[in-house]
Amino acid sequence: MKSRSKKTEYRVIFISSIPGLIVWILDAALDYVYFYKGRGSFPELLFLHVPVHEIYIRSVILGFFILFGVFISRKIARLKEAEDGLQKAKDKLELRVTERTEELKNAVHQLEFELHERRKAEEAVQLERNKLKSILDTMQDGVYIVNQQHNIQYINPVIEKEFGPINGRKCHEYLNASEEVCSRCKNQEVFSGKSARWEWHSSRTGKTYDLSDTPILDMDGTISKLEIFHDITERKQMEDALKISEEQLRYLSSQLLTVQESERKRISRELHDGLGGGLAILKLRVNFIKKNLQEDQAGLRAECEEDVQLIDRIMEDVQRLSRDLSPSVVEDLGLSAALRWLSGIFTRNYKISATFDNDGVDIDHRFSRQDQINIYRIFQEAFTNIGKHSHAKNVTVAVEKHEDRASFLIRDDGKGFDLNQVQRKDLFGKGLGLATMAERARMLGGFLDLRSQEGKGTQVTISVPLKAGQEGSL
Ligand SMILES: Nc1ncnc2c1ncn2[C@@H]1O[C@H](COP(=O)(O)OP(=O)(O)OP(=O)(O)O)[C@@H](O)[C@H]1O
Ligand SMILES: [Mg+2]
Repeated sequence: MKSRSKKTEYRVIFISSIPGLIVWILDAALDYVYFYKGRGSFPELLFLHVPVHEIYIRSVILGFFILFGVFISRKIARLKEAEDGLQKAKDKLELRVTERTEELKNAVHQLEFELHERRKAEEAVQLERNKLKSILDTMQDGVYIVNQQHNIQYINPVIEKEFGPINGRKCHEYLNASEEVCSRCKNQEVFSGKSARWEWHSSRTGKTYDLSDTPILDMDGTISKLEIFHDITERKQMEDALKISEEQLRYLSSQLLTVQESERKRISRELHDGLGGGLAILKLRVNFIKKNLQEDQAGLRAECEEDVQLIDRIMEDVQRLSRDLSPSVVEDLGLSAALRWLSGIFTRNYKISATFDNDGVDIDHRFSRQDQINIYRIFQEAFTNIGKHSHAKNVTVAVEKHEDRASFLIRDDGKGFDLNQVQRKDLFGKGLGLATMAERARMLGGFLDLRSQEGKGTQVTISVPLKAGQEGSL
């Protein structure tokens, strides 16, 4: 390439030197005809004896043409180079265009393939949607789908029946007749991809619904909300009725316990004053008879003696019965002493050792008289149960004070029992003791915690709140 351009260069220099040589010959001819006529032959004036200044002039002219040739040849060479560069760039461009065209062709093929695949996927999704829609259409529950702009995309016949046709309304206008977005609505949660479940009462239909919200992916990649309306109005009404009847039952049983308490008091008084008094008179009379018996009536005297002893035993029983029935011991001695007295009686009756630890907690002045009687009755029943059922050897009673409540604990090391089994028993086979204890704990504003393990004993704890003003004093 380089030698080719050099050749061209020499050729140009050679061609441009030709006019210089022509000028040289012309000048020799002119010298021969005009300026140097007779001073020499033409060949002498041309080459052999050229005057010095002529050589100078002709050389300058020849040199000028040669220089011109050099200049032109350089220009041509540069043009040639530029042309070559241009050709190279053109070739490169053509190559790139060919490559790019190939790439584009491939990309178009890929795009066509993807389009085809996408169309197939869309058809499959549409098919699934149609299937889903036909399932939703036949559902017993109401279903609707709403997008993030609150535009309703679908309602099933159940929703349409309850709320009417959509008529282009937004979900809050349609379901809630409100211009504002509903404040309780879980849209934002669902649109962020989470499911939600909540209850809603519609003032339009007067019904309560259990709503289940699920995010679903639209074909354009955005999330819509699918909401299922399960009508729980009837269940709610039943629950409310049940709650009311439970409250009534609780009120009745607390009333019953209160009435029972005053009835026990009355019977205790009757026993003490009536029967106790009568027995005391009877004892006096038998003693009087015994005193007035003749010397020879030793047999009758012995009988009287036995009768007096019998009357004493009956009087003791009446006293015990009267004490058991009446919580007067609480009123007379205070709760703490009454509980100690109760554990003493318990130990004596059942031969079970009972330790009482109230950790210096003053329980006598912290509860109302009524509350103290309730606590006492709970202890009474707990002790009776231990005596009747537990076969325990030891019983521990403890009173503890916590931040805002006091707890009373009665633990035995007896045989224990299966709580579930006792709770499963039908109403008529069941005892009343545990239920009454729980009810009394509720009347105290607290609760009863019952733990029992077969072979390991039973623990009854009642936790009672300390009313304002009581906390610091315990
Ligand atoms: N400390 C205990 N040790 C072992 N079993 C117990 C204990 N306390 C309760 N039980 C069991 O729980 C059952 C229910 O007790 P609950 O006090 O409710 O009824 P009851 O004592 O059988 O009858 P009621 O108290 O009405 O006279 C008892 O029958 C007994 O099997
Ligand atoms: Mg009992």
